[in-house]
Amino acid sequence: MPFLGEIKMNICNIKNVAVIGAGDMGHGIAELCALNGYTVYLKDIDQKFLDRAKNRIRESLNILARKGKLKDDNVETILERIIPTLEYKQALENCDLVIEAVPEIMSLKKSVFVKLDSILPKSAIIATNTSNMSITELATQTKRSSKVVGMHFFNPVILMKAIEIIKGDNTSSETMKFVEDFAYSLHKLPIPVLKDVPGFIVNRIQAPSSVLLNKIIEKKIATPNQIDANFRKIGQPMGPFELMDYVGLDIYKHGADYFAQKIDPEFKSPKWINELIDEGKLGKKTSYGIYDWSSGRPTINLEDTTENVDNKDILLVQVNEAAKLIEKGVVEYPGDIDIAIQNATGNVSGIFWLLKDDREYLINRLNSIADEMGIEIFRPIDFLKEMPFPSARKALKARKKKRRE
Ligand code: CAA
Repeated sequence: MPFLGEIKMNICNIKNVAVIGAGDMGHGIAELCALNGYTVYLKDIDQKFLDRAKNRIRESLNILARKGKLKDDNVETILERIIPTLEYKQALENCDLVIEAVPEIMSLKKSVFVKLDSILPKSAIIATNTSNMSITELATQTKRSSKVVGMHFFNPVILMKAIEIIKGDNTSSETMKFVEDFAYSLHKLPIPVLKDVPGFIVNRIQAPSSVLLNKIIEKKIATPNQIDANFRKIGQPMGPFELMDYVGLDIYKHGADYFAQKIDPEFKSPKWINELIDEGKLGKKTSYGIYDWSSGRPTINLEDTTENVDNKDILLVQVNEAAKLIEKGVVEYPGDIDIAIQNATGNVSGIFWLLKDDREYLINRLNSIADEMGIEIFRPIDFLKEMPFPSARKALKARKKKRRE
């Protein structure tokens, strides 16, 4: 959980933060910043989005207040630090750091970046909360590419501890450090992502397992409830299909189709999800999706599990994708991947425990999954054979040491 109250002014000399977009992520980011003592300009295109955001923030702060987690602050003083606005100029002219959180549409984000660059002070940093898209490409819309960085929060922002800090091709090390310090000042855990790859760490690793899960549904091997019940049984806070609904099927589709375009067509969002989207069923935000959310969190029948699907297969394709990231040098320490997964999704065990099984067996299993499903992205990469065990413990130790230096 966040900290609360002990930091009023911060370690990185930021006075004003602007958040562009007051939706699921934007309102949570604004709340988090205000909670930690920052003045936040929250910009959107319509007053009704701003009003809704403020109500959601108030509700969340009330929960924290009831639990005695606001220390010296109270709900109203924190809310006063959030200044809703419809005007870019008001949001940006005295701003040190802006976090863009508009919908996942590249052309929209690019037009926002042009606007930000034209109004912001020259020294200000532009961070984007994009879930998957290229930081480098967005930075081309500005004259300050060394000051453009990814800052990927996880939903719900107030509760999930990880923030991926993504280096674009031209992001300077000063900008990376500045934003990492800022993340620490929010009492979050920054995970540096050193190469600008689609989906960064967490979403990238989950992408092939979503392809496998969707194939399992299409082939009627199991139902979403059965899969989710299997994962709840091993202690995950949400099964993968409930999580898709929670985040939004539209968001899932944007990501999947982006991976299909940038990595491999096999990542494409499947027909059955596209049909739900066409019917306006986007998940939690529209009350219906894969599940019925009209009375709150859907009821998953935890008894209705399945033996047709081995949870290990789902995690194994994630391990293979993780190996690709480690081989490419995307992470600072290989164990960062488990740390990111644990702190972004509440999956307490991470994925690398699977590597304690016989490596040859795991590689054969990946080939069998690829053959059975007819999907090539599941093929094991050669590096998986020789990859040393990525230890989260070692990664945490190394990070702590680096921070002390
Ligand atoms: N503000 C403050 N506190 C809140 C809150 C809020 N908005 N929402 C919930 N809480 C508190 C509740 O009061 C409760 O506290 P107690 O345990 O002290 O009672 C606690 O948080 C848990 O909440 P609930 O009991 O309401 O619900 P839950 O136990 O079902 O947990 C959840 C909800 C935290 C979302 C949990 O299911 C979970 O961790 N799910 C996985 C989420 C995840 O994987 N997120 C990453 C998504 S991917 C992403 O975001 C990336 C992207 O690019 C889209």
